[in-house]
Amino acid sequence: MATGTAMSRKDVFTPAKHLAFKDMPNVHTMKELGFSETAGVSPIAVSEPFRLFTEEAVMRMRQEVLSPEVFENCQYSSNLAQCYLRGFANKYAPFVYDVWKNPETLAIVSKIAGIDIVPEMDLEIAHINISVKSEEEKKEELEAAAERANYEADEGIAGCPWEDDKPIVGWHTDSYPFVCVTMLSDCIDMIGGETALRTGNGDIMKVRGPQMGCAVVLQGRYIEHQALRTLGTTERITMVTSFRPRDPLQKDDTVLTTVRPISNINDLYNQFAEYRLQILEERIRLQLREIRDLSAAGRRVTTKKLKSFIGEQENFLAHMNREMVDDDDVIVGNIQQDHITPESSSKPRKRRKLV
Ligand SMILES: [Fe+2]
Repeated sequence: MATGTAMSRKDVFTPAKHLAFKDMPNVHTMKELGFSETAGVSPIAVSEPFRLFTEEAVMRMRQEVLSPEVFENCQYSSNLAQCYLRGFANKYAPFVYDVWKNPETLAIVSKIAGIDIVPEMDLEIAHINISVKSEEEKKEELEAAAERANYEADEGIAGCPWEDDKPIVGWHTDSYPFVCVTMLSDCIDMIGGETALRTGNGDIMKVRGPQMGCAVVLQGRYIEHQALRTLGTTERITMVTSFRPRDPLQKDDTVLTTVRPISNINDLYNQFAEYRLQILEERIRLQLREIRDLSAAGRRVTTKKLKSFIGEQENFLAHMNREMVDDDDVIVGNIQQDHITPESSSKPRKRRKLV
């Protein structure tokens, strides 16, 4: 269990009480989206929304996440969004921490992701996006949307809403292999909020946004996507937990581009270095065992194989070193645009007109 805020017994995360997962959701494969099955770390690209938590669990998580300590100590903003809460779980949110470390939760997200995954690092349990609008703003937006819907119906152009779907963040890929996005707000009346995905041939596919207590799993490192704007809610709070493969022999393409400027840099680099060095340790241990076992039997590992192993690990370390940009060169709050697809090349193709 996490350290930090003391929990009474009834508050402890209990899978039987707090997890509400029942049936496997529909998933879309990489192949279905026009990508090679080996483009990412799993053949699964994205899931449809699925119920993951009970209402009690959502309320408990909200209570921890929206606490004064978290707002005071873990709030970040950037050129892309006004309010994130990050890096709070192992200090102020023991319930949230336990949710994402629990083997039963991990078994569910792994099953949906099509690969055994673990949280990327503790710092990514869990990233919170908050957007809040006043009742007045919500009303105005809904009226404008209704007016536009009437106009579009009159003009016979309903069903082609792409040009007006303004995204929250533009087209991008994530820093981490997988994300699980959980909705912590009641968004029963919400319009929009879908995730748009760009398929291998440049078409756009939309996946519904989750309702409260529900989640979506996405292989976000390998699929360009954007979250579309929402209307009809005053509050939208999503919890984004990032994951990487558990197997140290899997590739780890993790970058830090989108998180470096909105993190405690020492925590981020320490945790990044720790898990990557652990992967390296495992790989070296396995290679060493092979050398020793073969040697004991009077045989040898081929030069070609050894050199290939060394080359791979050199690249692994070089990648790590590149991602750990010197502290002085990190501009706080400024998420570099190189991870975000430039607008000129990312304009979604117009949808085919429906007849
Ligand atoms: Fe994303």
